[in-house]
Amino acid sequence: MPKRQMKLTAFCHPPGHWLMPGAKPTDMDFEECVHMARVAERGLFDMLFFQDSAAVAPAFYLPGGGAEALAEAARCVRLEPLTLLAALAPMTKHIGLIATVTTTYNDPFNVARKFATIDHISKGRAGWNLVTSQNVDEAQNFSQNEHMAHDLRYERAQEFYDVVTGLWDSWEDDAIIRDHDTGKYIDPKKVHVLNHEGKHFKVRGPLNVARPIQGNPIIAQAGSSEPGRELAARTADVVFTAQVSLEEAQAFYSDVRGRMPKYGRSPDDIRIMPGIRYVLGHTESEAKERYDMMLGEASIEGMLKSVQRLCGDLDIRKYDIDGPLPDLPPSNAAKARQKMMIDLARRENLSIRELARRFTFSLGHMVFVGTPKRLADFMEDWFTRDACDGFTMLSPYFPEPLEMFVENVVPELQRRGLFRTAYEGRTLRENLGLKFKPHRVAAQRETVPA
Ligand SMILES: Cc1cc2nc3c(=O)[nH]c(=O)nc-3n(C[C@H](O)[C@H](O)[C@H](O)COP(=O)(O)O)c2cc1C
Repeated sequence: MPKRQMKLTAFCHPPGHWLMPGAKPTDMDFEECVHMARVAERGLFDMLFFQDSAAVAPAFYLPGGGAEALAEAARCVRLEPLTLLAALAPMTKHIGLIATVTTTYNDPFNVARKFATIDHISKGRAGWNLVTSQNVDEAQNFSQNEHMAHDLRYERAQEFYDVVTGLWDSWEDDAIIRDHDTGKYIDPKKVHVLNHEGKHFKVRGPLNVARPIQGNPIIAQAGSSEPGRELAARTADVVFTAQVSLEEAQAFYSDVRGRMPKYGRSPDDIRIMPGIRYVLGHTESEAKERYDMMLGEASIEGMLKSVQRLCGDLDIRKYDIDGPLPDLPPSNAAKARQKMMIDLARRENLSIRELARRFTFSLGHMVFVGTPKRLADFMEDWFTRDACDGFTMLSPYFPEPLEMFVENVVPELQRRGLFRTAYEGRTLRENLGLKFKPHRVAAQRETVPA
C-alpha cells in the first residue's frame, strides 16, 4: 500500500505584518494574488483558502478604537473572495480554490449557483468554506441589529447546506445532451426540482447551472464548537481548525472522525487540517529575530482588540493589563476560539498583556518559529501520530515566508515520502484523495433495479 501523504492548504488572508521587509499587498493587489497562487502551485499545495468577513473587523468600532487603530490595522480591506477565485481559476492549473462564504448572511440559491459556476470555470477545483460568521459586525451590514445567536446560526447552516447540495443535484451529470440528431438539448428525466420547504428557506429550484464537475465542490468547515463539529461530521470534506498541542489535536481528530459513522460516512471521507502560524529562518536565531520583529510591531491598544472580540460584553481595557485575564461572559462570535484563548491564559498563567501579544500573532493557531528542517520534523510528528491529515499554513505576510516554505520545507517533506512530487488528479477532490460525489437520485436508481 502506498504511504499516506499529507495535504497542504495555503491560508490567504489580508496580511497582518505588512511592515516586514518585502511584504506585498495581497489584500487588494490581484497581481500579487496571482503570484501567491503560483508559488503555492509550484509547491504542489492542495489548495489556496481565502478567509473572509463581510465587515471591517469589529476592533475599529470599539470604544477608543477610531482613527489610530485603523491606521495600524492591516486587515480591514480585501478583495471579495468568490470574484477572486473566478479570476484566479484561468491563471492556475492544478491548485484547489477555496473561499469562505457565510450561511448567516446569504441565500442558498446564490451560493449554489456561484460555486457551481466556479467549479465549471476551474474544471473541478472549487471549494466552499462554510462558516456561520465569527464577526458580529456583519449583522449591521445585512439589515440586522444583532448577530444571530450561535445555535440558531448553526441550525440555519445545516438547512443551508441541504438546500445548496440539493440544488447541485438539480441536473444529473449526463442531463444535458445537446443531441444534434434529435434536436433535444436536455433529457427531462434527469432534471430534478428541489421543492425545499424548511424552517429557514423555501426554494423551488432547479438550479440554472449544470451539475458541478466534482459532483459537489469541496465543502470545508472551520467551526470547532459542539454544533460546529457536528456540522463538520455530517457535511465536511475538509476541516480547518486551530489546535495548539499534539494532545488537543489528537483529541479533536478522533472526536470529529468518531462522529461520522452516525451520518453514514467513513472517517476516511474527511481531511482534518490544523493551522500552523509559521516563521522560518535559515538558523534558529534568524527565525526568532523575525518573530520578535513581528511581535514588536503592534501597539498594545491594537493587540488588545484581538482579545476584546472574544470577550463578549466585557471591556477588557478596564482591567489591569499586567494582571490575569478575568472570567469572561460567553461570546456569540466564536465559542471554540474563546475557549482556546481562556485555556491558553490559564495554562500558562499569562497576563492580559502577554496573552494579547501572543494571540495577536497566533490568531489562535499553533505557532512555529525555527528552521525548515525542524518545521518538517514538527509536521511529521503530528501527521504520523494521528493528529491530522495535513496542515493549513498561515504565512504572517506574503510572499517570502510562503516562498521559503515551498523551497525548503516541501522538498524536505518529499524526501521523507510525506508529500507528493506531482499532482495526482485533475480535480481538487481527486488530489485530496476523496471520492466523486454521486448524484443522489442517479445513485439510487443504479442500486434499485427498475
Ligand atoms: C482556519 C480557520 C479559518 C476560518 N475562517 C473563517 C472565515 O473566513 N470567516 C469566518 O467568519 N470564520 C472563520 N473561521 C471561524 C469559524 O468558521 C467559526 O465561524 C467560528 O470559529 C465560530 O464557530 P465555533 O463557535 O463553532 O468555533 C475560521 C476558523 C479557522 C480555524
